[in-house]
Amino acid sequence: MLDGGDPADVPAVAEGRAGVQDEGSQLVAHALATAPVEGRDERWLDLCAGPGGKAALLAALAAGRGAGVVAVERHLHRAGLVRRAVGADGVLGVVSADGARPPLRPGSMDRVLVDAPCTGLGALRRRPEARWRRSPDDLVTLVLLQRRLLASAVDLARPGGVVLYATCSPVRAETVDVVSSVVGHRGDVALEDVRPLLPGVTGADDQLEGTAQLWPHRHGTDAMFLALLRKR
Ligand SMILES: C[S@@+](CC[C@H](N)C(=O)[O-])C[C@H]1O[C@@H](n2cnc3c(N)ncnc32)[C@H](O)[C@@H]1O
Repeated sequence: MLDGGDPADVPAVAEGRAGVQDEGSQLVAHALATAPVEGRDERWLDLCAGPGGKAALLAALAAGRGAGVVAVERHLHRAGLVRRAVGADGVLGVVSADGARPPLRPGSMDRVLVDAPCTGLGALRRRPEARWRRSPDDLVTLVLLQRRLLASAVDLARPGGVVLYATCSPVRAETVDVVSSVVGHRGDVALEDVRPLLPGVTGADDQLEGTAQLWPHRHGTDAMFLALLRKR
């Protein structure tokens, strides 16, 4: 951890051996990797992977446990950024495809991350100008996509496998409402408590029991939202 200064001046960052990542994003990858899973634990999926920050961390964790990550990213150039970020260890493949209809077998994944495209309003402390770029209409489009991506993630998880839904946003429409809607509409997935998977984090309770909302003023992170689902 750096107390200050420009991370680009750190040799490991300049040489591509290390990356810069908000602690909230690291907690998302950590929560997915440490969720208890019984039985096979070899195939992890990052369904919205670009530019690859969480995929890189997941791949490192997976490699240490004999598992591998498949990274899906819709936009070709961002899939290229994922390839650059992850390296070879712990990576089963990087695919440029729509995460709502990826070329992957249903029920084939042990752990799935949906770090969904969102308003990004949880990162206003780093990108304050984002407030002028977003309109209420964006939210309507994003919520529809978020629901489709989360439903697809549940389809791709094996029975007993886990899905972690995350957004860099505290906006209810794209956090608890998306999760409630998907869990409420299907009988093959249940919400679990993500909070025990966030070491040292208190005061992150959200209105939907078991989900977590991080806050810059409480946790020193971006305002990341996390929900853990288990496929029945
Ligand atoms: C919040 S960002 C993910 C950040 C990434 N997990 C990281 O840690 O670097 C969401 C990503 O989803 C991608 N995306 C948007 N629509 C998608 C879709 N239908 N399928 C897959 N990826 C999509 C965006 O291009 C963007 O790169």
